[in-house]
Amino acid sequence: MLRQSRRDDRTMVGLRPHFVLLFVLTLLLSAFSDASHCSSTQGLSLVRNISELPQDNYGRGGLSHITVAGSFMHGMKEVEVWLQTFSPGTHTPIHRHSCEEIFVVLKGSGTLYLASDSHGKYPGTPQEFSIFSNSTFHIPVNDAHQVWNTNKHEDLQVLVIISRPPVKVFIYEDWFMPHTAAKLKYPYYWDEECLKASRKDEL
Ligand SMILES: *[C@@H]1O[C@H](CO)[C@@H](O)[C@H](O)[C@H]1NC(C)=O
Ligand SMILES: *[C@@H]1O[C@H](CO)[C@@H](O)[C@H](O)[C@H]1NC(C)=O
Repeated sequence: MLRQSRRDDRTMVGLRPHFVLLFVLTLLLSAFSDASHCSSTQGLSLVRNISELPQDNYGRGGLSHITVAGSFMHGMKEVEVWLQTFSPGTHTPIHRHSCEEIFVVLKGSGTLYLASDSHGKYPGTPQEFSIFSNSTFHIPVNDAHQVWNTNKHEDLQVLVIISRPPVKVFIYEDWFMPHTAAKLKYPYYWDEECLKASRKDEL
């Protein structure tokens, strides 16, 4: 009985360091793989191939998002640039943010919905604007808006520039939801990973 339990003790003592090492290695590896594309402007190569930047739909079917130059991902302070592609019929949520936003339509066409009166209690029926290849438009600060690919046959590709990153997005379920009920999504979907990584760095 005694001998048996001694052997168990020995086994435990022998195993424990391996477990700890394995655990630490797993943590390190996951931190590294999560954060490998999150860097500061210093660590950034000056010229980058957009085709090799991480691209994801962040849980939104039909979206492809690339942060071309970002606050959390690349250490940008004043502006952030996205390249986004919406497949036919897909769209952004109805949302607002307190930054300037400029779109350049690279491919395809669609519809911009914009509720310009940010002084009411809710956005209200939006104005509709046709957007088309080689068009550009800007979203006034805090105006609720939504971009749709309303073209059934073609992807809509846009280059998006925002000021004052990281973006803090308020999302509406519909155009008549009160401004006060809009849900803050921060960090926004594509900022989540690098924000976690930058918080880890601060520890
Ligand atoms: C950019 O990346 C793509 C995909 O990896 C590659 O096919 C292309 O050759 C690269 N361009 C240059 C100039 O390296
Ligand atoms: C966009 O407009 C500019 C200015 O007229 C023009 O030089 C360019 O070729 C256009 N691009 C496309 C894809 O139509």
